[in-house]
Amino acid sequence: MKTILISVLLLTFPLSLSAQERPSWVKETKAEKEKRMAWWTHDRFGMFIHWGLYSLPARHEWVQWNEKIPAEEYRKYFDRFNPDLYDPQEWARKAREAGFKYVVITTKHHEGFCLWDTKHTDYKVTRTIYGKDLIKPLADACRAEGLRVGFYYSLIDWHHPHFTFDSNHPLAPADPEEREKANVKRDMNIYRQYMKDQLKELLTHYGRIDELFMDFSYPGENGKGHEDWDSEGLLKLVRQLQPHCIVDNRMGMEHTGWGWDFVTPEQFMPQQWPTVNGERVPWETCQTFSGSWGYYRDEYSWKSVHQLVVMLIETVSKGGNLLLNVGPTARGLFDDRANERLEGLSRWMKLHSRSIYGCTQAPEEIRAPQNCFLTYNPDTKRLYLHVLEWPFRSLHISGLKNRLEYAQLLNDASEIRFRTQTEQGDHTTETSKEGDVILSLPVERPDVDVPVIELILR
Ligand code: GLC
Repeated sequence: MKTILISVLLLTFPLSLSAQERPSWVKETKAEKEKRMAWWTHDRFGMFIHWGLYSLPARHEWVQWNEKIPAEEYRKYFDRFNPDLYDPQEWARKAREAGFKYVVITTKHHEGFCLWDTKHTDYKVTRTIYGKDLIKPLADACRAEGLRVGFYYSLIDWHHPHFTFDSNHPLAPADPEEREKANVKRDMNIYRQYMKDQLKELLTHYGRIDELFMDFSYPGENGKGHEDWDSEGLLKLVRQLQPHCIVDNRMGMEHTGWGWDFVTPEQFMPQQWPTVNGERVPWETCQTFSGSWGYYRDEYSWKSVHQLVVMLIETVSKGGNLLLNVGPTARGLFDDRANERLEGLSRWMKLHSRSIYGCTQAPEEIRAPQNCFLTYNPDTKRLYLHVLEWPFRSLHISGLKNRLEYAQLLNDASEIRFRTQTEQGDHTTETSKEGDVILSLPVERPDVDVPVIELILR
């Protein structure tokens, strides 16, 4: 029985098994990887930018797939692409002010349109009325604001003539036989080379690239996985050209220990720090303001500033990064709804970024009280208590016995007094668990989105 099972597995995944072996060019140790990723685990907060032709229809970046729009018809967006108000300095300034530390922009999304002046296709911004490379000035502007630069690159391509029709292709013939017939004329070898040529451009002409977000694999029948992309070849190229660059897990090599740097939970909040083979791994959740990634005019599911602040805190409280997306308009602007969120984030971050940067999940023995999230900075030994619902006067926290030296509100550095025994008075029925620290809060909740108490430990 066992032998049958193993042979079935070998038959089904012969290549994936061999891909598990570490290729000779992978040399990095675990400690070296940690060091390479140190800035990223410190910085915690990145801005995602989804921008492309789909900003014109303004009804989802998958609009071509959703509406099965033929190439000739989709062309009208290419012909009218002209973001005349694009001001990359303004984007970068807004990102910095809102507390982001890095920016990851779509250089090419699934539609195949390229935002840089690539030599390998005419389906690019420099052939539109606008006529100028969009990536270079943004990369420069970000660096000028002290932000790191990352690129998103779509493995999927609905425009390239050699990307074979599959389940994720809007123009794939529905009938499997016809699809196969149509695919005879398509040669993935050519597409694989195209990706390599483009990556080479992106990683040589735009300075230091700190993160690469490759998107995405969907192996199986009528899908595509790491062999289809030659993910190993792509990764090798990245490691050669920019060895420091941090790469996501969407090239389909999660089953290897070396084919990715971090996992990417999308549009949901993990219940706890994600693990792979029982080990906690670096993670970056990508989230939107409103549901879609590209600019969507008529979407009415925008998250409030409060929800976004809580999302950032919760992510860091579980040891993760947040990549929060803005979808600029086809004029090249962040719209009012996005600006309002960014302003709210900058208001909060201005006073509270200390509870985010350099922070991670709190040590196990310290439990967050009800309605609170904890983050912890292991270098400064400071603990940050984020209070979602402001309680009346007393906040009990366990696991800190004899360890708390000083406590203060983060927004105004005003002292929070604390005690380890409940007060004895005529009408005091308050009880506390042995070893609890009791913080004495002001009755009035500080007027910030989420108040934070900084606990300085011995
Ligand atoms: C998904 C979607 C895509 C989006 C991405 C962001 O893979 O296909 O539209 O760019 O997630 O993580």
